[in-house]
Amino acid sequence: MKTIFSGIQPSGTITLGNYIGALKQFVELQEDFNCFFCIVDQHAITVPQDPQTLRKNIRSLAALYLAVGLDPEKATLFIQSEVPAHAQAGWIMQCISYIGELERMTQFKDKSAGKEAVSASLLTYPPLMAADILLYNADLVPVGEDQKQHMELTRDLAERFNKKYNNVLTIPDISLPKVGARIMSLQEPTKKMSKSDPNQKAFISLLDEPNQIIKKIKSAVTDSEGIIKYDVENKPGVSNLLSIYSILGDKPIAEIEEMYTGKGYGDFKADLAEIVVNYLKPIQDRYYQLVDSSELDEILDRGAEKAKAVANKTLKKMENAIGLGRKKR
Ligand code: TYM
Repeated sequence: MKTIFSGIQPSGTITLGNYIGALKQFVELQEDFNCFFCIVDQHAITVPQDPQTLRKNIRSLAALYLAVGLDPEKATLFIQSEVPAHAQAGWIMQCISYIGELERMTQFKDKSAGKEAVSASLLTYPPLMAADILLYNADLVPVGEDQKQHMELTRDLAERFNKKYNNVLTIPDISLPKVGARIMSLQEPTKKMSKSDPNQKAFISLLDEPNQIIKKIKSAVTDSEGIIKYDVENKPGVSNLLSIYSILGDKPIAEIEEMYTGKGYGDFKADLAEIVVNYLKPIQDRYYQLVDSSELDEILDRGAEKAKAVANKTLKKMENAIGLGRKKR
């Protein structure tokens, strides 16, 4: 059976973009693959985090993993910092990375632009991501489009390691969703929807209340044409809303365009808001049942144990290949 690995940062309540680009795929993939889904808290601290908020976000993300339909009997769910092999293998991957290639990562450029004090970890973030994936011998990594460059680097690093040492690492493939690999900001539809956007109106979080969702969709930036048509180049706002409608309403885009021929943005947005609210309602109900439960702790404890068993084996192989540690007599 093929293995899947993916992770999400607990750096705020996750958005519809994270759900459509990543989580929704996770739920489908758990049926046919050996899956590991991680809460990458060590990645989150590459930018400043308030300790109490971080703790809250970690638990919240774990509850959301389950609330959207991940089944701990089928997939292994765990927290990165609870499996020390990630940091250990992350160091090894840093040692085979070049500063130049890390500086070329667009996310590093975006996140460090204009900042006076940039943490070293913001630069070395991708080797840690590579370690996450390679420790589980993942064949496939479901992510949104913004992670494509990090995935290419992961493959390069794995190939470099295999060439330099023994062939110990599996080279992973990327898996992008067919629609929705890049859900855009509701306020600036040429920018991706991000959970760390300071403008709350730019994103819908999975835990937003119905009236917030209705307001955010109502104020989503469109254009003055009044025509509901998918045209990313000229109508990025409407196209983004159409993608969300299509995925959560489970209808092809062409059919939605047809349904709204001759109708204005008001009707379209009101219907979309209803679809989003109804889609998120059962997820939110389940989330609130789980978030403070001991069931959640038990699931994460079991997940960390299962993850450790696999990760430690690969780490040992990597260390042996490099010559780290000592040969016991
Ligand atoms: P993160 O936490 O920023 O995002 C989690 C997942 O959501 C996807 N995503 C989106 N998809 C579509 N539209 C959007 N607007 C949107 N915003 C985010 C991301 O592509 C991602 O799949 N580096 C990763 C975390 C990570 C990881 C890993 C992922 C660490 N280790 C190992 C996979 C495998 C990140 O920052 O994702």
